[in-house]
Amino acid sequence: MVGKICGTGSYVPPRVMDNDDLAKLVDTNDAWIRERTGIGKRHIAEEETTSFMAAQAALRAVEQSGIDPEEIELILLATSSSEMIFPCAACEVQKAIGAVNAAGYDLNAACTGFVLAFNTAQAYISAGIYKTVLVIGADSMSSLVDWTDRGTCILFGDGAGAALLRAEEGAPVYMAAHSDGEKGPALTGMSRHRKGWAEESDNESYIHMDGQAVFKFAVRKVPEIIEEVLEKAGTDLKEIDCFVLHQANCRIIEAVAKRLETDIGKFPMNLEEYANTSAATVPLLLDEMNRKGRLQRGQKLMLAGFGAGLTWAACLFEW
Ligand code: ACO
Repeated sequence: MVGKICGTGSYVPPRVMDNDDLAKLVDTNDAWIRERTGIGKRHIAEEETTSFMAAQAALRAVEQSGIDPEEIELILLATSSSEMIFPCAACEVQKAIGAVNAAGYDLNAACTGFVLAFNTAQAYISAGIYKTVLVIGADSMSSLVDWTDRGTCILFGDGAGAALLRAEEGAPVYMAAHSDGEKGPALTGMSRHRKGWAEESDNESYIHMDGQAVFKFAVRKVPEIIEEVLEKAGTDLKEIDCFVLHQANCRIIEAVAKRLETDIGKFPMNLEEYANTSAATVPLLLDEMNRKGRLQRGQKLMLAGFGAGLTWAACLFEW
């Protein structure tokens, strides 16, 4: 058995902050941000919490699937920015959507979180442990960034995406994942002093990033892990219809496509609108493509996530 996606959903807060708005906070400008990252704007939570956004995305996925929330057996929620350390956000989602029979827990692997949660769900399903699993990626990065640091605050946004998986007979799912804790200092986020975007900054907390180190890591490791999964599957790059990569930076995605000598048209992007929403980028993009009718049954999709840890993971499956 494999987990087939039978519903997707997403949510972003209505408040939009474009690059010109950011230029009022830090010494930056729209042209620099667009050229270096491809980002035009980001959605920023005001009252919305991570678990609220996750629940909204989950409700939309459940509604699209037509499945009764009481049939959901497991909720896996990838996040590194939950408003509470416990209870976990997955339990908040369970309550909000009425998934009374589900177990639930959070999984933290930063930007790689959704792909790892998706792989975990597939492992449970192929082992016959669960049949109906809700996988969510949700993050409120605006609560973690230092809004006086132009090197990082331009990169992130808030949002959530969800996919409901149902056990079915189908083509096998192939996956791979890696971590390199030695390189962890390249990208760190503290949880001691969480503050909203408008509050005074405290440079001892928040996200610290060696941007160039993260960039180099991503453009080397993402093609490697994609090749690793293709080898496991005994298939070829040309067989893949679509590469859904973590949306950190369009230059990273373009460099990956170039290294793989693959048409950039197979690498959809939506970071111009949402920026980097960490664990939410992959399911947000999947939902957008699904709702626009850009995904057809039988298409081969490669998901790839990468981020703090350092961590990176990929998954090949049939839509
Ligand atoms: N606006 C204007 N100028 C800026 C800004 C800004 N927002 N930020 C930095 N600069 C300046 C720097 O001060 C520097 O000026 P200097 O030459 O006078 O010293 C110059 O621009 C170049 O800075 P670099 O840091 O070298 O710029 P780079 O081309 O590396 O781009 C960036 C920075 C966009 C962060 C890039 O390194 C990157 O995308 N890295 C990947 C990191 C990433 O995506 N992280 C997301 C989180 S992790 C994840 O999701 C995987």
